[in-house]
Amino acid sequence: MVTGGNSGIGFAIARRFLDEGAAVTIIGRSAGKGERARRALEEAVPGTRVRFAVADVRDREALRHAFDDAEHEHGTPTILACAAGVGVVQLVSRTDLADWEWVMGTNVTGTLLAAQLLMPRMAAAGGGAIVTIGSDAAVNGERLIGAYSVSKAAVVMLTKLLALDGAPDGIRANCICPTYVEPGMSDFPDRISGHDAGDVPEIAPLPPLGRYGWPEDVAALAAFLASDDAQFVSGATVALDGAMTAGIPAYDADEVARAQRIARRLLR
Ligand SMILES: NC(=O)c1ccc[n+]([C@@H]2O[C@H](COP(=O)([O-])OP(=O)(O)OC[C@H]3O[C@@H](n4cnc5c(N)ncnc54)[C@H](OP(=O)(O)O)[C@@H]3O)[C@@H](O)[C@H]2O)c1
Repeated sequence: MVTGGNSGIGFAIARRFLDEGAAVTIIGRSAGKGERARRALEEAVPGTRVRFAVADVRDREALRHAFDDAEHEHGTPTILACAAGVGVVQLVSRTDLADWEWVMGTNVTGTLLAAQLLMPRMAAAGGGAIVTIGSDAAVNGERLIGAYSVSKAAVVMLTKLLALDGAPDGIRANCICPTYVEPGMSDFPDRISGHDAGDVPEIAPLPPLGRYGWPEDVAALAAFLASDDAQFVSGATVALDGAMTAGIPAYDADEVARAQRIARRLLR
C-alpha cells in the first residue's frame, strides 16, 4: 500500500516495489491523477499488478474501503509506505488554524490512520513493514515551512512508537527523512510571496554531497527497509540528505578568515 503513490516519491516507491515483485495499490485524492499514475506504472513494469484507490488519508472510512478492496484483490497488505504529504510556506507563528490542521491532518493523522488500519491485518498475516516519510525539516526545523517541520517531527516520533507497538506482532516501522527531493512537492502552495522553482536554493540549500535528492533515492531505501534484509531494523530514523543534517557545513577559506577576524575582535 503506498499512500501518495500517484506522484513524486510515492510513485517512485510504487514503481520500485513493483520491480521487486510486489502487488501494489496506490492511494490519492484525485481520480484522474491516480488513474494516470496507475497506467504509467503498468506501462513501466509490464505484467505487474497495480491498483489505484481514491481516498483522503484523513478520512478513516475511505481508507478502510481502499484497504478492504486491495485486500480482496491482492491479499493482506503487509507493506505500508506513507508518502501522502502536504505543506504550507509560512512561519509557524503566523500559520492559520486551517492550514495547521490541513498539514497535521494529512502528514500526521493520515500516517496514523493508515498504520492503525493495517497493523491488525499485518499482525494476522505474521508481520509487516511500515515506512513513513519524514523530512530533514524534522531534524533541523525550517522557519519558512514551520507547520510542515512540526508535522514531520511528529511523524518521526509516531514511527518510533509504531515500531514499539508493532514489535510483538513482527511489525517493523522506520522513517526516511529526505532533504529536498526534485522536483518538489505538488501540494506546497506558496502563502508568503511568489516562490517558484528559481527560489529553491533559498528554501532548500544544496546538500554537501552536491545535489538534491531524487525520488529513486527514497524508493531504494524504502525497498530496503521493507525487505527481509532489514528484518532487525525498526524504530529507525534514516537521514537521506547528502549529509545535510550531519552538522554545520564546511566553510570556504574566505568564510574561515572572516570568522577568525570576528573572533579576534571579540577576544580583544
Ligand atoms: N519532495 C520533497 O522535497 C520532499 C522532501 C522531504 C520529504 N518529502 C515528503 O515525501 C512525501 C512525498 O512528497 P512528494 O514530493 O512526492 O509530493 P507529491 O509529488 O506532491 O506527492 C504527494 C501525493 O500525496 C497525495 N496526497 C496529498 N494529500 C493527500 C491526502 N490527504 N490523502 C491522500 N493523498 C494525498 C497527492 O495526491 P492527490 O492530490 O491525488 O491526493 C500527491 O500526489 C511527502 O510526505 C513529503 O512531505 C518530500
